[in-house]
Amino acid sequence: MRILGIETTCDETGVAIVEDGRKVLSSIVSCSVELHKKYKGIVPEVAAREQVRVIIPVLRETIYNFKPNDIDAIAVAVGPGLVGSLLVGVETAKALSLVWNKPLIPVNHLMGHIYANWLMQNSKLPKFPLVALIVSGGHTDLLLMIDHNQIKWLGGTLDDAAGEAFDKVARILGLPYPGGPEIERLAQQLTTDKKQLTLKLPKPMIDSNNFDFSFSGLKTAVVNLVHSSQFIVHSREEIAYEFQQAIVDVLVSKTIKAAGKFKAKSIIVGGGVAANKLLRSRLTVHGSQLGIPVRFPPIELCTDNGTVIASAAFFNFKPVPPEKIQAQPGLYFS
Ligand code: KG4
Ligand code: ZN
Repeated sequence: MRILGIETTCDETGVAIVEDGRKVLSSIVSCSVELHKKYKGIVPEVAAREQVRVIIPVLRETIYNFKPNDIDAIAVAVGPGLVGSLLVGVETAKALSLVWNKPLIPVNHLMGHIYANWLMQNSKLPKFPLVALIVSGGHTDLLLMIDHNQIKWLGGTLDDAAGEAFDKVARILGLPYPGGPEIERLAQQLTTDKKQLTLKLPKPMIDSNNFDFSFSGLKTAVVNLVHSSQFIVHSREEIAYEFQQAIVDVLVSKTIKAAGKFKAKSIIVGGGVAANKLLRSRLTVHGSQLGIPVRFPPIELCTDNGTVIASAAFFNFKPVPPEKIQAQPGLYFS
């Protein structure tokens, strides 16, 4: 089965055709991040206008070598996301479904991040039950997946998402948006002899008896540090390094705890922060100590695109009549 997936929840416009949930036949992504850089964060109105401008060219390029008969169904990310951006993809998908007479599957954008792990054709499928960590710009969640369609939400952030914390701390340190890769780069610049740091930042909720997260205290600790006389003592590289250590420690500790408790056969990670090298290496090491394989998508599939939406729809094939589908900016896990 070939599914056309559409993703327009934020600043990426992604359209893709995926066969049987695993094989990418065509995928085009356009990203408006450069337009937002001068504002040091996403401006919803700018993102929505850019979605309107590029959706048809991106769609046209994706389906260039295909005819409507080559496609069996349409999938679209219906939320969570920015309402103006979401509407562009959702209404485009509804029109295509109607005109081509194809089933339409609404997809939770966050599930798309998880299904990036099914798009690696040359590797084995993740084994159930599994623990999934979603770490994106807007969300941080831990899920238990007994099977496709059998999902239990274990916990999530009480305030800032992991990516949001990276972005805000980057901004405090005078780095451009998006902050995650910038913090990672700065932390890597810390020379080995300086890694015996005296600076210690909090690791919020690391020992709490649940699977929730909180990163705003960590961000505030960096704000206070930058505004104190200590800022002269500690370099920006040192702060970036210690911040990254703290956030990764919390994410790894909670994920490993969940995997142990629920006897997971695999751990999978998705979302923009899954591109972080320290997170990738630390979680892999801790997982292997427990004998649990840890999977991360290739870097290009960590961020938003249409392939992951098509894959999620294939493994959870529940079509809905177009007139019943709406953009759901606040969609979460029920
Ligand atoms: O999943 P995503 O593309 O967008 C949302 O759905 O929110 O994630 C974007 C987030 C941004 O906050 C960005 O700073 C973060 O992912 N990010 C990273 C890295 N690359 C992107 N965070 C840490 N380390 C990275 N290498
Ligand atoms: Zn995303």
